[in-house]
Amino acid sequence: MASTSNENQVACFLNSANEAAKTILETAKEDGFIHVFSHLDADGVAAAGIVGKALFRLDARFRIRITQWIEQKIVGEILSDKPQLVIFTDLGSGYVDLLSQKLADFKIVILDHHQIIGKESDNFVHVNPHLYGIDGATDVSGAGVAYFVAHSLDKVNVDLAPIAVVGALGDMQDKYDQRMLGGLNGRILEDARNSGLLTVEKDLIFFGRETRPIHKTLASTTSPFIPGISGEEDKSLAFLASLGIKPREGDKWRALRDLSEEEKKRLCSALADHLLSKGLRYEVSNLIGHVYILNREEPWTPLRDAREFAVLLNATGRMDKSGLGIAVCMGDRGQGLEGAKKVLEDYRRTLNKYLGWVMEKPERVKELENIYVVSGEGFIDDKIIGAISSILSGSLPNPEKPLIAFSNVEGEDIAKISARASDTVTSRGLNMGEIMQVAAERFLGKGGGHNVAAGAQVPIEDMGNFIEIVNELVGRQLKGERIGS
Ligand code: C5P
Ligand code: C5P
Ligand code: ZN
Repeated sequence: MASTSNENQVACFLNSANEAAKTILETAKEDGFIHVFSHLDADGVAAAGIVGKALFRLDARFRIRITQWIEQKIVGEILSDKPQLVIFTDLGSGYVDLLSQKLADFKIVILDHHQIIGKESDNFVHVNPHLYGIDGATDVSGAGVAYFVAHSLDKVNVDLAPIAVVGALGDMQDKYDQRMLGGLNGRILEDARNSGLLTVEKDLIFFGRETRPIHKTLASTTSPFIPGISGEEDKSLAFLASLGIKPREGDKWRALRDLSEEEKKRLCSALADHLLSKGLRYEVSNLIGHVYILNREEPWTPLRDAREFAVLLNATGRMDKSGLGIAVCMGDRGQGLEGAKKVLEDYRRTLNKYLGWVMEKPERVKELENIYVVSGEGFIDDKIIGAISSILSGSLPNPEKPLIAFSNVEGEDIAKISARASDTVTSRGLNMGEIMQVAAERFLGKGGGHNVAAGAQVPIEDMGNFIEIVNELVGRQLKGERIGS
């Protein structure tokens, strides 16, 4: 669960963000060329947008690349292009060893929140909450770390605070009471609120409050899971009708945002009664939560609700169109946004296709002693397997067992693995980041991440053995054994 950090830890963290800002400013003043590499998910795209905008405002010369991981190709590119500075955002901390070995002579800034593997060279500036005992899985995201550096570069970058909030929500860091962001994310929220850019409200937490017809929003919710409504659009229309809530205004579907306060109250208490009648007392507390509204964005667009914004960015990153997501983060509300919206539709269709495929045959979700396993069999795109595993992990029968999903990387002999665990098991000491790292290293692969969400790359021929080892390591770690070196 969410932890709290003290002022001293925060001061040390902010100090390291200032160091990074100094290094960036120096390079920009000397007109040095800057390479930025960021991760392909929502948080990574948001982080890239924040750094991109800050560098643009400095009039710096830079280039941004989005990648799923750091590999030889990237190292080779840096060695041949010889940029004066390399900035890694939302990735890098898991590769400190590799970077120190291969790029020790380069000026490198790492702005990340993943668990750290290795010790950096002296000319690296490493900004990571874990270095100061702050929890990087819940308290600040890659975009958040990038934001603190951008803010230290120039206070005008306070207008990027909402993008950092989007990144944190993309990484599902809303683990404080009633899906609130806390820790360092709380400071970013304050910046965003104080500048009038963001409003936080407590409301029905359903996804799509700004853009989707209400019955679709209700039917697509899985958190909380509402029996008889989740997954059933017809029944959720009937449910609304029984409450006298009109789903349409003229020929336009209404979204949650269009309901009056009184209608919302009616809907909320009817949903609570419905859940209670099914014995789901606990789920009632999940109906209401904090929602984050970007005041300057147009109503009815996917940018208005920060959680929807995050899904849009995720879509661009995972569908190989990250340039659009980055442009939107940097302020493009014209062609960039139009393009990103199209990609979002495409992404939703793709997710549905993959989820349908997994559900088609029950044996596609295998249950082992300690884990669930889903093999994408090359059908699921390796860049989307992470999103699929996030969605599937919420609907598995036994929340005590983490999910391992994997698929082949196109054109290569490696598998991309995505692991997800519930907060219930991580609070009992399970750390999927560590397990992915230890298991992958046995097969000359690479793994890491956070306790709740982690990943790995491993030769495809070793997948059978890899799964066996992960199954065993999860069991051992839950018994309290140390599994690392
Ligand atoms: O690399 P990064 O830290 O940005 O990614 C974390 C990933 O894990 C995100 O894709 C996020 O959606 C996912 N996640 C999850 N469940 C959690 C926390 C994170 O699926 N509880
Ligand atoms: O790719 P996926 O969304 O499953 O990744 C989950 C988390 O694990 C992300 O935060 C990702 O950056 C991290 N990861 C990592 N090292 C790897 C693979 C994934 O740190 N080799
Ligand atoms: Zn992240």
